[in-house]
Amino acid sequence: MKPVLVVTRRLPPSVEARIARDYLPRPNPDDHRYSPDELADVAHGADALLITPQDSIDAGLLSRLSPSVRAIATLSVGFDHIDLVAAASRGIAVTNTPDVLTDATADLTMLLLLGASRRASEGQAMVRAGTWTDPRPTELLGWQLTGRTLGVYGMGRIGRAVAQRARAFGMNIHYTNRHRVSAALEQDAVFHADARDLLAASPFLTLHAPATSETARFLDAPGIALLPRGAVIVNAARGSLVDDEALVAALRSGQVAAAGLDVYDGEPHVHPGYRALPNTFLLPHLGSATVETRTRMGMIALDNLDAVLAGKLPPNLVRP
Ligand code: DGY
Repeated sequence: MKPVLVVTRRLPPSVEARIARDYLPRPNPDDHRYSPDELADVAHGADALLITPQDSIDAGLLSRLSPSVRAIATLSVGFDHIDLVAAASRGIAVTNTPDVLTDATADLTMLLLLGASRRASEGQAMVRAGTWTDPRPTELLGWQLTGRTLGVYGMGRIGRAVAQRARAFGMNIHYTNRHRVSAALEQDAVFHADARDLLAASPFLTLHAPATSETARFLDAPGIALLPRGAVIVNAARGSLVDDEALVAALRSGQVAAAGLDVYDGEPHVHPGYRALPNTFLLPHLGSATVETRTRMGMIALDNLDAVLAGKLPPNLVRP
């Protein structure tokens, strides 16, 4: 008998074809976001779940989850939406999809950095509204990256891939990280053991830390006050790293000149202040959203599920 797999969202065609070949799938035909009750219902008697970061697997849901469920694979590198301790206590293996989304997310971070710095939202709005009628040399002047410092909060795989791209734009890299990275990975980047020193050195700042209790609201009002006036902020990591009220206030006052955001606290809800401001460049969590990357993420999620269900150690087991 093939194992029963709940797949909470539609996936790229080749991933769905592999699921249809190897599993008895329980798909979500209209591709809506399951409520916890719906997810608990659809998981009844299933062997495994393939979920996304929009599916919150908290202790409450886990306590109601069918005891038949042995594995949960999330289509993401982040796993802050899963209560790992509660999953482990029920003997459920949790896996993620690291590595494969590094390039796509780093590319998108550069889009955010450029979009915010070059006032792309305002420019697009002008062209679309037909108000670009009398081009002026002083119109929509942005801020050049060349020769400037990019502060990287979190020098993991994605932070390093962003640093690599930013070097090609002539930027100097400063960073902070839980631990200083090796000289080979650090290259010419300047390490700050104290995140406050990084903030003070960063006219451009990009966030690449996971969502944990330690990183929650890293960028709050006191932190924003340390940035050079007119800083540009980018977040393609997790919305919880930022105090939205504080950032909106700083975008209004000019302490922060512009922000490029792909992730939001409580997404898909977006703080209304960001939507109202002209100096924000906003995307709907597209970090890993390329055909190639989402397909590879799906395949890796399945590799992990195949392993768990065959009684083997999955390649990307996430431990509490
Ligand atoms: C991740 O993998 O955690 C991304 O944010 C999902 O796109």
